[in-house]
Amino acid sequence: MTSPTTGRLCAGRVVAVTGAGRGLGRAHALAFAAEGAQVVVNDLGVGPGGDGTSAGPARRVVEEIAAAGGEAVVHDGDIATTEGAASLVTTALDAFGRLDTLVNNAGFLRDRMLVNLDEDDWDAVMRVHLKGHFLPLKHAAAHWRSEAKAGRPPVARVINTSSGAGLLGSVGQGNYAAAKAGIVALTLVAAAELARYGVHVNALAPAARTRMTEQTFAAAMAAPGEGEFDAMAPENVSPLVVWLGSAASDGVTGRVFEAEAGRITVMEGWRPGPTDDRGARRSPAEAGETVRRLLAEARAPERVYGAS
Ligand SMILES: NC(=O)c1ccc[n+]([C@@H]2O[C@H](COP(=O)([O-])OP(=O)(O)OC[C@H]3O[C@@H](n4cnc5c(N)ncnc54)[C@H](O)[C@@H]3O)[C@@H](O)[C@H]2O)c1
Repeated sequence: MTSPTTGRLCAGRVVAVTGAGRGLGRAHALAFAAEGAQVVVNDLGVGPGGDGTSAGPARRVVEEIAAAGGEAVVHDGDIATTEGAASLVTTALDAFGRLDTLVNNAGFLRDRMLVNLDEDDWDAVMRVHLKGHFLPLKHAAAHWRSEAKAGRPPVARVINTSSGAGLLGSVGQGNYAAAKAGIVALTLVAAAELARYGVHVNALAPAARTRMTEQTFAAAMAAPGEGEFDAMAPENVSPLVVWLGSAASDGVTGRVFEAEAGRITVMEGWRPGPTDDRGARRSPAEAGETVRRLLAEARAPERVYGAS
């Protein structure tokens, strides 16, 4: 579905992208603008571990969008606070009169093995990713619910950002993996709760070369040789996000996609595997026998990232 007036996929839509000053969020913001959306570019401008703040990254992306002929405004608030999340929504309404799509993307890492993981590192990462998804989602959803109740049913979209770490686990990323798994559960609940208001909610597990990955996964993220496809460019992930954020994705909700390079994968989540109901309580030893037998029938789990 494209706009009848311009043929661009997101013409007439207003999109807010969190953490859009760099990396994947920047690529998403530019890609939405290229498809005709007006964009709220949020970024707190923090360092790689969440330290400091700067309005510079968000401002530069707004300037890039304007230079390409698009329309965007800066929002430099902290999306993991009620004030920042609420003002993200009001910035869209004040600047452009509506909000159609929310891309939750902001975040940072504090990687440590579990035994070395401080409470502060746990809290900071859970806060920016999990609360940083919940609060903008809550405030956007409240707006869409009141639109629906006022007789203006929205065609609203939310794209949340999980990670392979959250889907499969990742050694040295206990805090991050737990937050990203939580984002998947939040996505499923939001898709179920908000369907009645015309809101679709999906999640993405991307992989791309950004400051978050270029050192830790240097080999996998390496830039290509001259003339080769730059497989790990963040811009390769954005087309899926733009489509999910458009009206064209009607009926697609409560799903999780992996996206990297030229590949899009539907991730299939938890579902019951082999089961045994004997209709009576077991002894611990009998429970163990049952478990051994069921595991022999079950599919082996995917390997945790970084596990030997
Ligand atoms: N790069 C990858 O391969 C990869 C893989 C899986 C998941 N992800 C996820 O994708 C998202 C984007 O990551 P990236 O690789 O582009 O990282 P990045 O560091 O390049 O960009 C993240 C941006 O979020 C901003 N930010 C951090 N905390 C914020 C806050 N409280 N409020 C507003 N902005 C804030 C930062 O300033 C930064 O500009 C993250 O959620 C990340 O966990 C990335």
